[in-house]
Amino acid sequence: MSNEKENNDVGNSKQEEQKNEAQEQQQQKKVRPRKAKQDKPPADDQGIWRMNRRNVFTFAGWLAFLGFIATATLGFLRYLFPRVLFEPPTAFRAGTPDDYVIGEVDTRWMEQYRVWVVRTRTGIYALHAVCTHLGCTPRWLDTEGQFKCPCHGSGFTQEGVNFEGPAPRPLERLHIAMENGVIVIDRGIRYREELGQWAEPGAFLEYT
Ligand code: FES
Repeated sequence: MSNEKENNDVGNSKQEEQKNEAQEQQQQKKVRPRKAKQDKPPADDQGIWRMNRRNVFTFAGWLAFLGFIATATLGFLRYLFPRVLFEPPTAFRAGTPDDYVIGEVDTRWMEQYRVWVVRTRTGIYALHAVCTHLGCTPRWLDTEGQFKCPCHGSGFTQEGVNFEGPAPRPLERLHIAMENGVIVIDRGIRYREELGQWAEPGAFLEYT
């Protein structure tokens, strides 16, 4: 009888042990963190960088759009800064008539502006110091009373008229005017004798 009881006790304790083990295993299963699911794309997903025909057209469309925006922006900026050539003014102030001696050729503006100023008994005119042959700079020869070109020997009178050498026409006169008692010469406006322009008002400043 006692043996039977012992056997029953042993059986019960085994069952309990098994039961406990099963519970522990269940708890461990509960506690064990689940593996994170891998975020695998579906098999038919082409992905953002895997080009199919549709993606290529979309990409090309965006590229064209961005290119257009960039070009338009550059064009707008270019419009804000126009290509302008800033040149020095062609006119300059040349003092008063009293600064010039009647009958003399004044060379003070030669180096800076390539201009001679000549005062006569009736007025003042300005000559452009450029030879009408090939553009050399003539010299005023005071003792000979003439302009002489060093390149090919053309000669011009004090009035600027050609009288020797290959120069085909007289020197050009420049626009001259009086503003508030000051002589203003404009190298941008020229007068040619052979065209009858020396008779125009701006070619000669009357002053006595
Ligand atoms: S350039 Fe003056 S004579 Fe030829």
